Amino acid sequence: MQDRHDPDHLTIVTHPLVQHKLSLMRDKTASTSSFRRLLREISMLLAYEVTRDLPLEARRIETPLGPMEAPVLAGRKLALVSILRAGNGLLDGILELIPAARVGFVGLYRDPETLQPVQYYCKLPAELENRVTILVDPMLATGNSSAAAVDLVKEAGAREVRFLCLLAAPEGVARMKAAHPDVPIVTGALDSHLNDHGYIVPGLGDAGDRMFGTR
Ligand code: URA
Repeated sequence: MQDRHDPDHLTIVTHPLVQHKLSLMRDKTASTSSFRRLLREISMLLAYEVTRDLPLEARRIETPLGPMEAPVLAGRKLALVSILRAGNGLLDGILELIPAARVGFVGLYRDPETLQPVQYYCKLPAELENRVTILVDPMLATGNSSAAAVDLVKEAGAREVRFLCLLAAPEGVARMKAAHPDVPIVTGALDSHLNDHGYIVPGLGDAGDRMFGTR
């Protein structure tokens, strides 16, 4: 099946492996260890999609049979920025594929009353203006934290930003499109809606609690 693209904004990765692993993660009986393992595996598959159009350049190398102009990733290094704490669950798998990426962290929590993001931490790699910056958070729910995190990396200089998540709600996608129409989103699924507490339905619950075994 083809991935579904709204080319400017949203890509839903419909690959059967992603969909299968996501269903196992949604199941409330999944253990903490299997949830974590599946998240790591899925993050590699999603990383494949979010980096699909990175530019290549030719490098002259010698194979055992002779010279060739071989494609390698062109100059600009990647920055991965995790939205704490659940974003960290996506980092390991992506770093396995892209070990040279620089890594930053943005700490935002949702005020339970207003659902608005409150920043408590921010540490970003240098020279974001020269990097493709990929923000990672498993859940794009209201979009408030995600939009605030994009604000932060843009204020730090990032010019080319992408957003990678496991699950998105229509409300979050719309919020991101309104605030940052230049930021493409890659997700494993687009769910139905948010409940009154800002949780994605049917979703998978609290991603941080499920990956870290808290609560
Ligand atoms: N954060 C989560 O962990 N889960 C949701 O459903 C929404 C936000």
